[in-house]
Amino acid sequence: MPLQLLSVTSEVYPLIKTGGLADVAGALPAALARQDITVTTLMPGYPAVMQAIGEGVPVRRYANLMGGPGTLRRGRAGELELLVLDAPHLFAREGNPYLGPHGRDWPDNPLRFAALSRVAADIAEGALGSYAPDVVQAHDWQAGLTPAYLHYNRPARRPPVVTTIHNLAFQGVFPAYLLGTLGLPAEAFSLEGLEYFGAISFLKGGILFADHVTTVSPSYAREITTAEGGMGLEGLLGGRARDLSGILNGIDTGVWDPAHDPLIPSAFSADDLSGRAADKAALQAVFGLDPAPEAFLVASIGRLTEQKGLDLLLGALPDLLGEGAQFVLLGSGDPALEAAFTAAAESHPGQVGCRIGYDEALAHLLQAGADALVVPSRFEPCGLTQLCALRYGAVPVVSRVGGLADTVIDASPVALRQGVATGFQFVPSSSAMLSDALRRAAALFREPEGWARVQQNGMATDVSWGSAAKEYAALFRRLVSSPSA
Ligand code: ADP
Ligand code: GLC
Repeated sequence: MPLQLLSVTSEVYPLIKTGGLADVAGALPAALARQDITVTTLMPGYPAVMQAIGEGVPVRRYANLMGGPGTLRRGRAGELELLVLDAPHLFAREGNPYLGPHGRDWPDNPLRFAALSRVAADIAEGALGSYAPDVVQAHDWQAGLTPAYLHYNRPARRPPVVTTIHNLAFQGVFPAYLLGTLGLPAEAFSLEGLEYFGAISFLKGGILFADHVTTVSPSYAREITTAEGGMGLEGLLGGRARDLSGILNGIDTGVWDPAHDPLIPSAFSADDLSGRAADKAALQAVFGLDPAPEAFLVASIGRLTEQKGLDLLLGALPDLLGEGAQFVLLGSGDPALEAAFTAAAESHPGQVGCRIGYDEALAHLLQAGADALVVPSRFEPCGLTQLCALRYGAVPVVSRVGGLADTVIDASPVALRQGVATGFQFVPSSSAMLSDALRRAAALFREPEGWARVQQNGMATDVSWGSAAKEYAALFRRLVSSPSA
């Protein structure tokens, strides 16, 4: 019998996505199926999700779930087995799942995601009868209360819960007076409970009451136990060090396959990189850059936030452009950064291109056509764009933090001599060090053989979900066979 895993998440690609969490929650079910683990995904019934499953099959009704009625519906979307929480008062809102008008958090976010966790705990306890998971994976703060509800309810049936942290910067911290509304006992407001600097933290609940905590790279698993990377939770995480591990994300190598990618004009592979030239020309055309095959073309894709360090890139841009390189950016977020990159494109026509927005197809073209992908993050739990870049022969230039440190081998003289380099790393996070890494990359780019070797090493790196799925499977089986392990 396959092991039954309930995955609790607020985002799943391709239904709803604001970041890498959706990619991970969307790809793991198929990867785990190959390890004989059947995944059912519990998620909110946002409009896009309701549209995908239609009526589904109602499996449980709630007369009052955090202020209104709710129906849990079973359904399918593509290969995904879903349990969808259809609660219109909480989730029937278009657009970004967390933000309302003027880009502000929805004020009832604590109720919305407590409801998700509450229902996850019910399912874990066996409320559905026909379906009871052997193990639960709760993703990020939105699912953080799942093990907390199980802890305070003391149900007869309590399968092991793994909390997976994708980003410690988002903790789900809300006013303590909500405890009663959320159906949690007063005792939960304590140091050994959800209390966090006078408020309550959903993610703290997820860390404290889970049987095991994973995060998405080994380096980030270490960093979050330090004052520098722990964002106030380092003590708690350090205390759970025995039950904390890092499992590196993969990417969907079917969706990201340069040899068979319908979203790029010209296919290519590690054996024959020649198709990249046409992709580069197409990318230059789309962004109005000079059609110069010899120009070093650097790209950046992602959310424009403090985390991603794009302000460092603004500082490094004059040096890069001074060397005759080209730069393109695809992303959205902080209005000041959006304005700064838009201005850079306007003042350097033909050399800098900028597309503010979210565009999956264009992201593929950037990976296929750029010579290098720059990811200057201040912290990065895993990062997925550098994995896509490795697979597409866009040489990653990354800061040496978190998953970026774990997935890119710096082209140091030794690594180059041994023929193992896959990209460029810099540390510490500063414009000067980034500039230096970009300068090293540009210099190697001018040596076509050495450059091609680094590209091919990157393309030979295993970025699939294969080994991560094995690690998750081993963890889940261990927890199921000895729940207190
Ligand atoms: P994070 O989850 O912190 O945003 P990741 O690198 O883990 O960072 O995942 C980001 C995902 O979102 C990747 O799949 C990336 O390609 C995609 N992405 C981010 N911004 C954009 C954008 N503007 N257009 C297209 N895809 C984007
Ligand atoms: C988060 C992190 C990112 C990671 C993603 C998926 O959004 O910021 O580094 O790759 O989750 O785990």
